[in-house]
Amino acid sequence: MNRRELLGGAALACVGLNGLAQTQAAVGLDGLARTSGRHFGFAVGPGYADKEPVKDLLRQHAGVITAENAMKWRSIENLFGVPDYTQADRVSAIAAGLNAQLRGHTLAWHQSTPARFVNATGEMFVQAQTSHLQALVSRYRGRIHTWDVLNEVIDADQPSGMRESVLSRLWGADRYPELFELTRVADPHAKLAYNDYGMEQDEPWCEHRRSAALHLLEAWVKRKVPVDVMGLQAHLDLSRRFSAARMLAFFDELSALGLTIQITELDVRDHTATTDLAARDAAVAALYSDFMDACMSHPAVEMVVMWNVTDADSWINRWSQGQRRPDGQPMRPTLFDDQGQPKRAFDAVAASLRQARVKFDKKAGNHV
Ligand code: G3I
Repeated sequence: MNRRELLGGAALACVGLNGLAQTQAAVGLDGLARTSGRHFGFAVGPGYADKEPVKDLLRQHAGVITAENAMKWRSIENLFGVPDYTQADRVSAIAAGLNAQLRGHTLAWHQSTPARFVNATGEMFVQAQTSHLQALVSRYRGRIHTWDVLNEVIDADQPSGMRESVLSRLWGADRYPELFELTRVADPHAKLAYNDYGMEQDEPWCEHRRSAALHLLEAWVKRKVPVDVMGLQAHLDLSRRFSAARMLAFFDELSALGLTIQITELDVRDHTATTDLAARDAAVAALYSDFMDACMSHPAVEMVVMWNVTDADSWINRWSQGQRRPDGQPMRPTLFDDQGQPKRAFDAVAASLRQARVKFDKKAGNHV
């Protein structure tokens, strides 16, 4: 047990209900998560992680850091294919400074494949993707808790259930298992995740994506592909239904395959809700509660990572191609407002972490 775990456990043991709100702030979200054997953290870029209020919020609450963009192939390479690891190293240093686990994101993703491969041959691409993966994984060998080896290859609308992309065309969907094998060799101690979106809510298209993911993972586990973790991005949306029972049935199936579950990119889009701020925040908090209570009730869930820290630095408000609210107001997707003040969503997540009755089952996390 490390210092953070000891402090978290001791603080929780010493306070009554009246002191809980203060204790949550003192212990922090990762401290609360650790009481049920889990980790809690945030995806960040070095640009804003080093500035207040984010810097202090990370110090209080982060036990995991994911590189939001800095470890993506497209971020590392310049136009001529020359790698520059400066930003990735900065994120790694931020995690080390916080004594936090580091998640690597992501080794193979169609959206982060450098543009120079548009007209490449399969042979050229396989060589380049292999070298990139080996160099990056070796650079952080022993530092990474989990690598997102492969990102977003499910497409339930395709007969094969697999996305057609630059990656499937040049690497080959039937060769995806090799990405996991290469990563395992380059860093035998990192957990290896398949990471994807759109599998958490109660919509027919989410159900199709869950089925496609299970189909793929079952085949991989049968072939002894070294995949350990299903990374569920959990970019939740207030306009979509949520069913804890449906999501937990999916968790049971993942767990039966011997996989653990990490919530890797949690946030809540509130683009259709009312214009009243208090009502918006209450609705967002209610979805956080429902989702987190369900996650904390499942023994295969080992980690929860928020995608960004404050509403001001959320990709949803930063990204020009993203959805917009009809009233033109920015969304309020994270746990902290623009000034870094905790919102009702923070209280909801803290309560779920604190009330977690089921501990993460470490035995389920053995490598296949
Ligand atoms: O830094 C440049 C800036 O110099 C330039 O002026 C500007 C012009 O567009 O672009 C900036 O880079 C942008 C970068 O985000 C930093 O904000 C890129 O264009 C933009 O494509 C990039 O978007 C990222 C996106 O992944 C694509 O890589 C988002 O920040 C990041 O939050 C998002 O994260 C993804 C996960 O990796 C996978 N799951 C979904 C999630 C959200 O889309």
